Amino acid sequence: MLSTGRVYQAGLLALAISALSAQAQVPRLPTDNSLLVPNEYLITFTGEPGTSEGIAAANDFFASLKTKKIPYTIYENYTTLLNGAYIGVEDKYYDAVHSISTAASISASRLSITDDSPPINDKSTANPPLPMLADEYTGVNLVRNSTKWDGTNVKVGIIDSGIDYNHPAFGSCYKTKGCRIQYGHNYVSDTGRTDPLDTCNGHGTHVAGILAGNHGVFKGVAPNATLGIYRAVGCDNKGSVQHLAKAAEQAYKDGMQVVNISFGSPGGWSDWVMSTLVDKLRAHQIHVVTGAGNNGMDGLWTVVSPAVSRYSIAVGSMEVPKIYSLYMNVTVGGKTIPVRRSEQQTTVPLINLKDAPFTRGLSSAGDDYGCSPIANDVKGAVVLIQRQYCSLTTKAANVYNAGGAALAVYNTDSSDMGVIIFEYEVNLPSFTIFQNDGQALVALLDANKDATVTVDHSVFVFDNQFATAPAFYSSWGPNPEGPIKPDLLAPGSYIYSSLPLNQGSYGLMSGTSMAAPYVAGLVALLIQSGATFDDNNLMSNVIHTATPAKNAAGQFYSVAQQGTGLVNAYNALTANLAFRTRYNLPTYYDDFSYSTYPFAIYYENHGKEVANYKFAAKTCLSVSGVGTGTVMATPPLTSTAGASVSFSTTSLSTKAGSNGNFQVTITNSKLDRKAFLIYSGYIQAYAASGSTGYTYSFPYMGYAYDSSSISVLDKSLYGLPCMVRQSEYQCLDPSASHKFTFTGRDFPVILLRFQAPVAQMMIKVAYAATPTKNHASVEDYFFSLQSRTMDSTGYQYVEKVWDGMGHATSTPQNVYKMPKGKYVLRFQIQPVRTNNKVQYYTSPTIEIGS
Ligand SMILES: *[C@@H]1O[C@H](CO)[C@@H](O)[C@H](O)[C@H]1NC(C)=O
Ligand SMILES: *[C@@H]1O[C@H](CO)[C@@H](O)[C@H](O)[C@H]1NC(C)=O
Ligand SMILES: *[C@@H]1O[C@H](CO)[C@@H](O)[C@H](O)[C@H]1NC(C)=O
Ligand SMILES: *[C@@H]1O[C@H](CO)[C@@H](O)[C@H](O)[C@H]1NC(C)=O
Ligand SMILES: *[C@@H]1O[C@H](CO)[C@@H](O)[C@H](O)[C@H]1NC(C)=O
Repeated sequence: MLSTGRVYQAGLLALAISALSAQAQVPRLPTDNSLLVPNEYLITFTGEPGTSEGIAAANDFFASLKTKKIPYTIYENYTTLLNGAYIGVEDKYYDAVHSISTAASISASRLSITDDSPPINDKSTANPPLPMLADEYTGVNLVRNSTKWDGTNVKVGIIDSGIDYNHPAFGSCYKTKGCRIQYGHNYVSDTGRTDPLDTCNGHGTHVAGILAGNHGVFKGVAPNATLGIYRAVGCDNKGSVQHLAKAAEQAYKDGMQVVNISFGSPGGWSDWVMSTLVDKLRAHQIHVVTGAGNNGMDGLWTVVSPAVSRYSIAVGSMEVPKIYSLYMNVTVGGKTIPVRRSEQQTTVPLINLKDAPFTRGLSSAGDDYGCSPIANDVKGAVVLIQRQYCSLTTKAANVYNAGGAALAVYNTDSSDMGVIIFEYEVNLPSFTIFQNDGQALVALLDANKDATVTVDHSVFVFDNQFATAPAFYSSWGPNPEGPIKPDLLAPGSYIYSSLPLNQGSYGLMSGTSMAAPYVAGLVALLIQSGATFDDNNLMSNVIHTATPAKNAAGQFYSVAQQGTGLVNAYNALTANLAFRTRYNLPTYYDDFSYSTYPFAIYYENHGKEVANYKFAAKTCLSVSGVGTGTVMATPPLTSTAGASVSFSTTSLSTKAGSNGNFQVTITNSKLDRKAFLIYSGYIQAYAASGSTGYTYSFPYMGYAYDSSSISVLDKSLYGLPCMVRQSEYQCLDPSASHKFTFTGRDFPVILLRFQAPVAQMMIKVAYAATPTKNHASVEDYFFSLQSRTMDSTGYQYVEKVWDGMGHATSTPQNVYKMPKGKYVLRFQIQPVRTNNKVQYYTSPTIEIGS
């Protein structure tokens, strides 16, 4: 029903962009809805699993389906963490299933994805193990050389794409005596195995290496932890909630103490079933560490589910100063310069080139964009071309036609261009380099006749031009419903770790998936060191000993972007003061009253000496996701205006073993309500002069505006919201009546874009003559609990195709085709904050013929 296909043609991209600005054609891009699995749901029943009440609820639920004559199939029963089942039932019965009182929750089956960068490696070469560079910036090197903590006897569960257990980093063994992998199972049918062997994906093997690898100089954070490997993500990088829930149940049964969860659905909510699972694990005293998500380009509120769960430790990605990178050595004017390559395109592997000629590729007009035939001699050469004006495929085709050996594209801005994906196959190894390097090479090549290049698959250490800042792709918080997210950051870019042997043994990957296992490894070390679970205090030190990062102007990045900043493993493990704040640091919502907000911070001295501390307040950049004219702002707008903070006392002196608390009051009354700011900052406790101790940071955050003053419907783009014909995608005249045949591709499609989190959207049918009077309901299964939608292209929107069906509110199981007549669809949109009023969009008139 949804059109999600992309058709690629040479040169189409450039054309499409100019066409867009001229006409109101709406670009068709896949939306998150492409991850929905039709006709399958995870239902939880009222009552706890295994209790008589829970069993009775399950029986009642299925009896109700029978009474209502709704056909269903049970695919999975959940009886450990969840009281529920994964069932097949037609989407049109969503509202009917929802109306059954013993259904506590009904979750559309949404595939979770691990959308990190694909592994950067040479699939044919066995790469040697190298040390993890990031360990120098996170206290992990210090832990390694000055403590005995290595994860011994701590059970860590990994729910991911499996592992290549033949890899030496995991002892080349599986479940045998003395093997570190002692638990595991495969839930995905694509490998035809019951064990979780990963030879097709690599993601799980890479993250497992970061967490617990051990092979010569390559060491994970907890290199001797015991592992449980639950394969719930397939070769295609997708995981069904059916398997993820089963894997979480098994991890619990196997006694895992830390579970690292590798998947997420964009735009998550804390009551989605994956978040519920995290909450259940936590209730069983299992720590869950999750990646915040790689949707940072979409701006605020993009932390994925289950990272949004209040009880998960949600980890974003921080750039650190030194990184490994693929590269090429350019020899020009007698000097050899290593030049960083960003990720290579994925379909044509780069060949090893030694002293190959290196030249610019110029058109007959003398430009180096490669958009028209290359006019100079580039035979057998690596050809340098600039980004822009035509697709990378066109550039590659022109270089290929001129006889070039490889394409090097330099960027037109300072960002990393990332992976090249060809729109059609061009048999040319291609890679990208950074703008500054490209410009420097242009000058050198113009001044020197003979330049050569050597490229292979090894990596070289480079300075990271983005350090030290949150990675651009790392999802922003806050959780639209409450707690501060992300909780903290760990290194996640260009991380060198294990890959399946058939993928080269080692390679680079980037993403918050690389950051999360770093923290999961630290939690394993903390458990080994004796940090007890119900002692939130010690665990909260993972967060409070992290180091907030500042930009070049000395301003702290927003808590919404960095949580408490970069993890410090050594400080977390050796902190003496503990603060009980992990689950109660507040976010203040919807400031209607412009009041002040007091809260308490509790502490305990676990050390052997008196602790003398002082307090200070640090203001972060305030951010706004809403621009002037209430147009969604990505990246978020920033402001140096912040809240003010006062303390009940500015210092503490506490004896060994004693505890206490202090009060903090936040006042935001000076902030401009019209700027729609989310303010944040840290309360910092630091050792008083003459004393030793760490700096602890407690984040706070709040909304300095009433969110009901914003329209959630973004009216900025292409005239959205609007109705289009499925076959055309042109916004239709809102005041005219439009007739549809409801066959082929002649269906009405409503396009909407949200600029603030939307908790729920309901769709009603009304007669066009009485457009505010609901006549029937439309199944809205994939809209309930839909978050704000938009991706980094800025084009993404909610797309609802109406098939002409509906049902009376009182008989949801009776779904019928609306008879001949004129109708409108009425969208009732419920923004996330409870004080918010429902907002409406009414479609143009839709005429159903006989
Ligand atoms: C789930 O439980 C029901 C009721 O106990 C049972 O009939 C069914 O066979 C089970 N299905 C699966 C897939 O385990
Ligand atoms: C231990 O690691 C820290 C952090 O990298 C380093 O500064 C220190 O020199 C190392 N000490 C030893 C004994 O290797
Ligand atoms: C690693 O852990 C095992 C238990 O799983 C333990 O027997 C062994 O001594 C540990 N090795 C080291 C070097 O600590
Ligand atoms: C590139 O040059 C550096 C020295 O500048 C050298 O260490 C490295 O091995 C060279 N790499 C290749 C692939 O030749
Ligand atoms: C840990 O969790 C992160 C994020 O949820 C995930 O991307 C990564 O793959 C996981 N790591 C392991 C070892 O499972």
